[in-house]
Amino acid sequence: MPAMSTILAIETSCDETSAAVISAGPTRRSNVVASQIDLHAQYGGVYPELASRAHAESISAVAAQAMTEADIDYADLDALAVTQGPGLVGSLLVGINFAKGLALATGLPLLGINHLEGHIYSLWLTPEFDRPDFPLLALIVSGGHSELVLMTAHGVYQRLGGTIDDAAGEAFDKVGRLLGLPFPGGPAIEAAAQDGNASAYRFPRAKTDGAYDLSFSGLKTAVMRAVTVQPSGRRNQRRRGEERIAELRDDVKIADVAAAFQDALTDALVAATRRAARDFAVQAVLLTGGVSANTLLRRKLGAALDLPLYCPPLSLCTDNAAMIGAAAYFRLRTGFRSPLDFEARPSWRLSEDVYADGLSQV
Ligand code: KG4
Ligand code: ZN
Repeated sequence: MPAMSTILAIETSCDETSAAVISAGPTRRSNVVASQIDLHAQYGGVYPELASRAHAESISAVAAQAMTEADIDYADLDALAVTQGPGLVGSLLVGINFAKGLALATGLPLLGINHLEGHIYSLWLTPEFDRPDFPLLALIVSGGHSELVLMTAHGVYQRLGGTIDDAAGEAFDKVGRLLGLPFPGGPAIEAAAQDGNASAYRFPRAKTDGAYDLSFSGLKTAVMRAVTVQPSGRRNQRRRGEERIAELRDDVKIADVAAAFQDALTDALVAATRRAARDFAVQAVLLTGGVSANTLLRRKLGAALDLPLYCPPLSLCTDNAAMIGAAAYFRLRTGFRSPLDFEARPSWRLSEDVYADGLSQV
């Protein structure tokens, strides 16, 4: 086995506590994900305070399980990796402090990895991915991010654009909640849309100033206007937690709204991605992040591009530590290590100098 290739990776940036072991290739030897969906579903969204507490409760057991499933000891590891950002600061800190503790105890080098880079590297764990030449275009669409990133070499990125307000997954989750569907909204809207007529409503496909920027808050508002009783008093509102939830009109067909919303949102993603793919003459497009699980998005994007489109399997679309380990695998080979006093970076963007402050070269 080549030197410096076995990595234990930790991911706690949002609402999944995950640990994975990655070996040469990179290949996945284990990828344990403890989801908090049930915990947050009762609130209709991720509750940061509860998320960090749940991470703290399960991180040790999740990491131990990842080691057991990979059938290795700490002595077999060459490095540790952890998500340094972006994400919820309290959640990130649980993973970072756990990883720093392990680094101190074992003497292993530790790499703080950018979560968005991890989403991109989920493709390098995907069997169908034949590693096309650069440049590549990545569309990262999740609950927290909607980013179009040009990748010109391993670890070299240019952020072309992204959402100027809500992330794509956030829009799915908010509209899902508005329609009374369970959390997370993405899979629930996708399922509801199957019986719906997407032309029953015509929701806006937002234009933005930036050629590759996206905006979904207007779409969300348009859905709200179309389906709710206009506020004429308290009678039309019920409360859930601190938030007011508008009353749906009697004649609303949830399936039609879901289908029309999904159609509008995916159209916007496809248009920006196709534009960027043409302008930068990329070799292939990588679609990653939780929203990339959406079948309509995959289908439309595949049809709109005259290039290969690669998507990870579902288990690698949503947050997981294996993708962090895969990104670390390539970082490690370039000689990068994080100083042990590195801090969480909750709003860390993926750009050319992504590791300029985060990592020191040894
Ligand atoms: O990548 P992820 O697990 O976590 C973040 O980094 O945010 O993505 C979660 C997001 C949620 O907003 C969820 O509604 C969305 O991905 N999602 C979907 C689908 N499955 C998950 N959105 C649309 N269609 C789906 N099938
Ligand atoms: Zn993510």
